[in-house]
Amino acid sequence: MSELARRLQSRKPKTAIILGSSLGSIADAVKDPLVIPYGELPGFPVPKISGHAGKLVVGKLGGKEVAVLAGRAHPYESGNAAVMRPVIAALKDAGIETLVLTNAAGSLKPEMQSGAIMLITDHINYSGMNPLIGQHGDENFVPMTDAYDPALRDRMLRAASDEELHLHQGVYCWYSGPSFETPAEIRMFQIVGGTAVGMSTVPETILARRYGLRVAALSVITNLAAGIEGASPSHEETKREGAKAADNMSRILARFCADA
Ligand code: HPA
Repeated sequence: MSELARRLQSRKPKTAIILGSSLGSIADAVKDPLVIPYGELPGFPVPKISGHAGKLVVGKLGGKEVAVLAGRAHPYESGNAAVMRPVIAALKDAGIETLVLTNAAGSLKPEMQSGAIMLITDHINYSGMNPLIGQHGDENFVPMTDAYDPALRDRMLRAASDEELHLHQGVYCWYSGPSFETPAEIRMFQIVGGTAVGMSTVPETILARRYGLRVAALSVITNLAAGIEGASPSHEETKREGAKAADNMSRILARFCADA
């Protein structure tokens, strides 16, 4: 049994939510919280960048038991695309069935502005990395059709609609970072069918599918991507604009959990 499974004791969350840049305040909405710092969980990476906490909060959201992970490690911090593998393996071992991933992202569509929330329908991996490289065994040939579970997507759309919030939908492009994209790269993402761009989520989706978890994912749009209407994104802007959208994201997530 993993340390996480042991620490959860009688609590039996079936859903885990990973919070993206500046969305950490969503963890404060969890009722009756049991807080476990990542440092106390073997293999959990302690985030090194600002805007990310490093704690797991187990408690009630939307009246249902959930595990909320405030903070993630990104492959750009170490070069290790599988940096979240121990976390996702521990969640699976602790009985988690559904993983909800959230992130901050830049928009590739001028009509999808800062403050918008986008449901990820599919992704494009432009990083050249894959968290399963070097792993052996047939289970690593993971099908990625419907990686973002259609039934969970329907539930997320219903949750947003119940909260009278508009949910955009689209394709998330993974760019390794930590530098932002060039305007030419952004034009390429637009041409190949991207809707938003960011530096996370895709490796976690691949790992989660590898472990048989169902995945849903939401992006908070913090900016127009580089070059669109003269945009020049920054980490400061990501943190500031992400925090502004955290309330709406929290409402959608609570409804989504309530409907489980
Ligand atoms: N590019 C990549 N990652 C991001 C962006 C962006 O424009 N905004 C927030 N995260």
